[in-house]
Amino acid sequence: MSKPIGVFDSGLGGLTVVFNLQKSFPGKEIVYFGDTARLPYGNKSPETIRNFARQNTKFLLSFQPEMVVVACHTVSALALKQLKAEFPLPIIGVLSPAVKAALAKTGNGRIGIIGTIATVKSNSYPAEIKKANPKIRVYGLACPLFVPLVEEGLFSGPLTETAIAHYLKPLKEKKIGTLILGCTHYPLLKTAIAGFMGPKVTLVDPSEEVMPEIALYLTPPPSPLPTGGEGTRGKEGGLRIYLSDITPNFRKVAASFLKKRLPRLEKVNVENL
Ligand code: DGL
Repeated sequence: MSKPIGVFDSGLGGLTVVFNLQKSFPGKEIVYFGDTARLPYGNKSPETIRNFARQNTKFLLSFQPEMVVVACHTVSALALKQLKAEFPLPIIGVLSPAVKAALAKTGNGRIGIIGTIATVKSNSYPAEIKKANPKIRVYGLACPLFVPLVEEGLFSGPLTETAIAHYLKPLKEKKIGTLILGCTHYPLLKTAIAGFMGPKVTLVDPSEEVMPEIALYLTPPPSPLPTGGEGTRGKEGGLRIYLSDITPNFRKVAASFLKKRLPRLEKVNVENL
């Protein structure tokens, strides 16, 4: 039997990556860990984020995955290097694929990146973009209210539109041509964000852009390689979901991430991580 893909996030947002995994590689087994008891990561210190990232990876290793996908942008921005150095298997983050896509899609050389406070403060996205092309202008912006809005299932409507206008007006004024949705939750606000930013701004959804990178590490390799999020067809692989807290509205909100019914939710004690 082929090994599963391990995926972790600070909570349920990483299910946007699971959604695309199931679409791109339908036969693959997936083990998901959402650290719902310790969410949010986005306002924690780098030291705490690195510590949680290490514990989450160790937990997933007990399933002997062929790789671990770090769906969380905050962890990808702050702890990926450390995880890659510590663990002897492919560890895939969302930051590099998102940067690659933004560089390929940028028309006017002005890229915006939105994410949690920790992600933006880390400067990881601008640093990677500038390393590839120092001439690009990068504008980072934290949008802390977007995560609770998504967790409440408010993907559209007046409250969400007000928050989007409040945060994104400065980026619109900077005339960015590309915007990286640098947080697991933001793809769920894609339609509302696109509506505000207008047709001249291309949105980069890292939960989709990470798929080709994952394909590189799959054994046996998928055939054909995924393009535009669609991949090989076949029987649907299993999905196991482990959470450090089974929160009251997890099932309802998570179903909107996955666009289907969820499997049984398994509880993991944080003390045992
Ligand atoms: N998963 C986090 C991220 O992608 C967002 C939620 C949090 O702050 O923990 O950065």
